[in-house]
Amino acid sequence: MKSSHVVRFLTCTFGLVLVAAGCTETNTETIFVDRPLFDDPPAAANGYLGYGTVDAQAESFTTCGNCHIGSQSQWELTAHAGAWDGLQNSGHAQSFCEGCHTVSELGNAAEGDVGWTATADPRYQDVQCESCHGPGAGHVGNPEGSGPLASIVVDVDLENGCGECHAGSHHPYVEEWSQSRHGFAGNVGVRDRGGSCASCHEGRGALLALGVDAEYVERDGVQNLHIVCSVCHDPHNATNEHQLRYPIDVADVDNNLCMKCHQKRAVPEVDNSRGPHSPQGPLLLGEDVGWIPPNFDTNIVRGTHGSAQNTELCATCHLYGRDFTDPVSGEFLITATGHLFQPIPCLDPVSGNPIPGDCDLAERSFESCTGAGCHGDEIVARGLYTVSTARIAAAVADLTAQLASVPATEFDSDDGILTVAEGALFNQKLGEITSSAIHNPFLTEALLLGSMVAVEDEYGIAPRILPSQMAARWNEIGR
Ligand code: HEC
Ligand code: HEC
Ligand code: HEC
Ligand code: HEC
Ligand code: HEC
Ligand code: HEC
Ligand code: HEC
Ligand code: HEC
Repeated sequence: MKSSHVVRFLTCTFGLVLVAAGCTETNTETIFVDRPLFDDPPAAANGYLGYGTVDAQAESFTTCGNCHIGSQSQWELTAHAGAWDGLQNSGHAQSFCEGCHTVSELGNAAEGDVGWTATADPRYQDVQCESCHGPGAGHVGNPEGSGPLASIVVDVDLENGCGECHAGSHHPYVEEWSQSRHGFAGNVGVRDRGGSCASCHEGRGALLALGVDAEYVERDGVQNLHIVCSVCHDPHNATNEHQLRYPIDVADVDNNLCMKCHQKRAVPEVDNSRGPHSPQGPLLLGEDVGWIPPNFDTNIVRGTHGSAQNTELCATCHLYGRDFTDPVSGEFLITATGHLFQPIPCLDPVSGNPIPGDCDLAERSFESCTGAGCHGDEIVARGLYTVSTARIAAAVADLTAQLASVPATEFDSDDGILTVAEGALFNQKLGEITSSAIHNPFLTEALLLGSMVAVEDEYGIAPRILPSQMAARWNEIGR
């Protein structure tokens, strides 16, 4: 049977009798399915089909999956496919829980009761395709028209998309994310600038840069998007844990989710006097970062936080989540999801919950350093951070003082030459980024010391620290 046949057939007989359906998946192949696509949905469901039949439901085989086999094969491995059982097995199931664990008006453009909330028909159990894509009856009746597209916007009103379910005190993803710089706290000026900046700073541009060409509601619109959930997560990807588009445990700047963006400029450019721009990925791994002074010992310690001992790399520290007991009720759990992306957050004085903002180092939680089993206790971790910050600040000050004596002509970024002074200045700026003291303290300090040696060799300007102090520092960082 040809698929055009099926289309007409589907249009006139809405339902049960259809047995062999010829369908396409991403235009590459036609498959023939030996099963009825769907039973007539209850009228009140408002065009939501849900699982087509009792058999299909038992197998977690969605109606959409009859044709979109690729999407189906990934979706069925995600937690969304088991959302109803997850709720029932929790021992706390109540009717108000159900909207988020079923096909309903939540997650898509519908308002008012649809799907499960309108019918309580079991075919709408689980977070199925239509939870995000909206009602499918029209499209399935005429699959050659455009499909029901999912929306990826996340807004404070929680009108659709991931945020309509992934919010609230049990799992405050939206609340946390929106206070991070991936969310509303991001720099709107850069986001709206478009051009090449969009490939990391704006949601749609970032998706394109990450190789995502799929259709979604906002793809061709004018709205500028934040780094929304769907930039990092893909509900059709079960290959990586947590439905992530790229893995987080790969030590490779081109294949690690975070490093794909956090690597704009880690080494100096000949014709550009600017310092580092999001150098965190290369710096953590200790690869292709900073200006390498002549005679620099490249066997020097490459970094501990980027080593194989830290399997989740950036995420170990920046996505640390945990549960908190609510001090008011004493039992209700508040979850911190880690989506503030803050490794050492300040804590709310009342609830103990992580909050964004600035506070004293002594008031910050260093639990992410111990939670992963790396450091024995928070006090030790905080102490190490304090020491490395101070050492790097001292080396930056010494190099700054030394570079002040170098003639200004050595800093001409238009002469087509990367001078020793320019290279050293780049390393100075790398050291000035406070987080370099944690992302790779040893390498950062080594680059600063090496720069001082190189500046002396090149221009005969001695650094202000004594040779004996210099030697002691090299020893301490493990050369
Ligand atoms: C009878 C087969 C069939 C069924 C069932 C079906 N689709 Fe489609 N769908 C198609 C075809 C064919 C296209 C057009 C594909 C193309 O042009 O690449 C399409 C396109 C789409 C698109 C647009 C993306 C694109 O590549 O153009 C989305 C989104 C979509 N479908 C979602 C769904 C959802 C959600 C369901 C379940 C409610 C569903 N489809 C059920 C056949 C089907
Ligand atoms: C606002 C939407 C929403 C409501 C209402 C809701 N849930 Fe959930 N639930 C979610 C989301 C989203 C997740 C996934 C969160 C995550 O992975 O961190 C989830 C996950 C779960 C899980 C799996 C947790 C795990 O660790 O695997 C259980 C069990 C659960 N919910 C039970 C309930 C119960 C019981 C209620 C009602 C008292 C409820 N849910 C109400 C959205 C909701
Ligand atoms: C209709 C509500 C709903 C919508 C919309 C929704 N989710 Fe979920 N999501 C859930 C529930 C419920 C669970 C937990 C299921 C369980 O564990 O039983 C969950 C689980 C997850 C998980 C946990 C997976 C894991 O491996 O532990 C991720 C990640 C996730 N959702 C991402 C997303 C993203 C990204 C979007 C938007 C593209 C989204 N969700 C939209 C309800 C929803
Ligand atoms: C390869 C990815 C990438 C590209 C391309 C990129 N950036 Fe960035 N940029 C980042 C990341 C990641 C951060 C956040 C990390 C940081 O601050 O070190 C950032 C931070 C910034 C900041 C600091 C934000 C603040 O408020 O402090 C500015 C300003 C900025 N970028 C401007 C630009 C401009 C302008 C362009 C285009 C000419 C651009 N970026 C292109 C990745 C990129
Ligand atoms: C948790 C929300 C969610 C669920 C569940 C979901 N999708 Fe999607 N879908 C999206 C989003 C968001 C996009 C936009 C593109 C992306 O994120 O990769 C999308 C894109 C698509 C596309 C367009 C692909 C293209 O190449 O243009 C198709 C087809 C599709 N989904 C089908 C399905 C089917 C079939 C199911 C169920 C088996 C399903 N989706 C379940 C959110 C979801
Ligand atoms: C910058 C990338 C990024 C963005 C943006 C992002 N996430 Fe995540 N998310 C992650 C990473 C990385 C993990 C895995 C964390 C880990 O391994 O501890 C994760 C984990 C999750 C999980 C699974 C938690 C679990 O315990 O299984 C859910 C659910 C989730 N995110 C939902 C969301 C939602 C909803 C949004 C948007 C409001 C969002 N994420 C935005 C990177 C991101
Ligand atoms: C699509 C590109 C992209 C991806 C992927 C990405 N980021 Fe970002 N990130 C940015 C941009 C752009 C900014 C700065 C936004 C601004 O300030 O406007 C940023 C900001 C941050 C900040 C805030 C820095 C500060 O000073 O507050 C942290 C921390 C961060 N990212 C960590 C991560 C981690 C961890 C991951 C991986 C789970 C990740 N990012 C994935 C683009 C990205
Ligand atoms: C060992 C824990 C750890 C690891 C691993 C880690 N970070 Fe950080 N990161 C921190 C700490 C601590 C800070 C300082 C936070 C603060 O001051 O609030 C920080 C700061 C940042 C900042 C803010 C930059 C600034 O302006 O100083 C960004 C962006 C960032 N990290 C991104 C990343 C990325 C991307 C990765 C992976 C390549 C990563 N981090 C790996 C602990 C870590």
